[in-house]
Amino acid sequence: MSEQSSGIDNVMQENRLFPPSAEFAGNAAIGSMQQYQELWDRAEKDPTRFWDGIAKDELHWFEPYGDVLKQDGHNVEWFVGGKTNLSYNCLDAHIEAGNGDRKAIIWEGEPGDTRTLTYRELHGEVCKFANGLKKLGVGVGDVVSIYMPMTPELAIAMLACARIGAIHSVIFAGFSAEAIADRNNDAKAKIQLTSDGLNRRGKVLPLKDTVDDAMKKSPTVEHVVVLRRVGNEVQWTEGRDHWWHELCDSVDADCPALPLDSETTSFILYTSGSTGKPKGIRHTTAGYNLWAKMTFKWVFDWKPDDVYWCTADCGWITGHSYIVYGPMSAGATCLMFEGAPNYPAENRFWELVEKYRVSIFYTAPTAIRAFIKWGDEQVEKHDLSSLRVLGTVGEGINPEAWMWYHEKIGGGRCPIVDTWWQTETGGIMMSPLPGATATKPGSCTKPLPGVVPAIVDESLKPVGENQGGMLCIAKPWPGMLRGVWGDDQRFFDTYWATVPGNYLTGDNARCDNDGYYWIMGRIDDVINVSGHRLSTIEVESAMVSHEAVAECAAVGRPDEIKGQAIAVFCSLRGAEPTEELRKELKLHVRKEIGALAVPDDIRFTDSLPKTRSGKIMRRLLRDIAAGRQVAGDVSTLEDYTALAKLASTED
Ligand code: WTA
Repeated sequence: MSEQSSGIDNVMQENRLFPPSAEFAGNAAIGSMQQYQELWDRAEKDPTRFWDGIAKDELHWFEPYGDVLKQDGHNVEWFVGGKTNLSYNCLDAHIEAGNGDRKAIIWEGEPGDTRTLTYRELHGEVCKFANGLKKLGVGVGDVVSIYMPMTPELAIAMLACARIGAIHSVIFAGFSAEAIADRNNDAKAKIQLTSDGLNRRGKVLPLKDTVDDAMKKSPTVEHVVVLRRVGNEVQWTEGRDHWWHELCDSVDADCPALPLDSETTSFILYTSGSTGKPKGIRHTTAGYNLWAKMTFKWVFDWKPDDVYWCTADCGWITGHSYIVYGPMSAGATCLMFEGAPNYPAENRFWELVEKYRVSIFYTAPTAIRAFIKWGDEQVEKHDLSSLRVLGTVGEGINPEAWMWYHEKIGGGRCPIVDTWWQTETGGIMMSPLPGATATKPGSCTKPLPGVVPAIVDESLKPVGENQGGMLCIAKPWPGMLRGVWGDDQRFFDTYWATVPGNYLTGDNARCDNDGYYWIMGRIDDVINVSGHRLSTIEVESAMVSHEAVAECAAVGRPDEIKGQAIAVFCSLRGAEPTEELRKELKLHVRKEIGALAVPDDIRFTDSLPKTRSGKIMRRLLRDIAAGRQVAGDVSTLEDYTALAKLASTED
């Protein structure tokens, strides 16, 4: 560690290595590091030729493209002038290939009701709903706002929009009326889709009521389409509101997919920035489709008889790319689940894995930490032998949580793919390939073919091995965002202004001497202690490796002497929050990473404030930590819960 460096010091030591078994590697499409490296090198040396070969095979082209890539600074176009259709590639292509009777969606509702749709059946439903949308005057470029529960109709709605060139904007069904209206106004949404209600842990959330409220402030929305899901009573505005089933009642069963220009906007998805209002991240048709499909196939080593389950919600990018567009353009059988992991009991996910013989399971570290807290017995009741690949996304996974996932869920035999990516990247950017990469707990390992990362310090110089710095992507890739809806300046300022010629991810990372990448948290999350810049995840991982700790978040707070002091908010696994334990935890961190990283404050709490997608809100915790600098102050549970509640009302 050098004190002069403007990079971030690395204090984490993780030397465990988990290569894929010979059997797994033998059956995998990419079964060795040599094969991976060969692919990556080809993509790096001649991206045009690399992607040309793949795009021709993997997407259906109504009309061929000319140039593979046209680049003017940060404005890029992929597969210029070609015509394709996302919905066609997800549905018609499989029917034509003779796979129409393969299951596309196996769905289970929260109350235990189930439904299965083959690719042919899904195609039929999508065509009908697309025709329903057309009846309401929806056409190319119109924005359809979707606020729905995790039912097959949510996927149907997305695919129906894509089929006719309408742009969907999916809003997670936990957001407030205010948040819906903000997004609708920014996007100028023309149609709102919703349902009467949503099942949540045995209760009904009245979605239509929330939408009715939102409509008071959504002047651009002309029609509301309502799916009957729970059968609760709803208010009705004649002329504006339409039942989904009635709309689809008298429409034509066929709706040919519209040939769309490669660069046609397929969807916008709002993501909250660290400051200011949410940004509508804009994705396109061909490049996005290809990226979602290829990354799905590479990262999960997907095979036609896999039962694949991604536990995300379609309200997030993970649901877009890895519940709908990626797996469906590959022709995968996808489990889709409406409910929560702990209803009616904390074994619900494992019950589903056993019941449907799930073979690929993709979830978030926040869920894994909850499973650990709920106890191994919830897992041990179930036969999880069908699993062969496990994945995580959304946050860094602490090595100890990784080990638990590996042993308890994966039975020690399943490769774990820790996938690093963002709403903006459209799909996975760095991840192990399960048949090739020897994994290291806590590392997202290596970039996928077509991804060229760079790490620079504050003076924009490349950092050395194991030095942390700002993670950038130096070359365009097909799935990259094409803009921030209605705000080119913000697009430029946020992603392109800082490191000229590079896409700025907003994350810090380091690359170790084996070329493995370690994400160190958001750029804003760095803690500067006595001139040493530490990443939050390293302190957190050391804490979580203590058996008493379930989950924790480290933040910096101002300190007169050290510049910043480290405050850690911490929830426990059944242990008592005593002064003894506090001391023990400090010693533990000292032993794991050294005196420099020992927390100055450890605050025990029941739960941590999180965004709705499960990311810990360090920004809020920073405020709390800074506001309570009085020595010896320990925030009470009540205070804390109030703050957590406050946090949950934010976007
Ligand atoms: C974080 C989710 C560490 C990161 C797909 C990124 C991760 C942000 C990982 C994007 C990972 C996501 N390891 N950090 N495997 N995956 N992140 O837009 O900070 O919801 O920039 O996309 O999540 O979050 P978003």
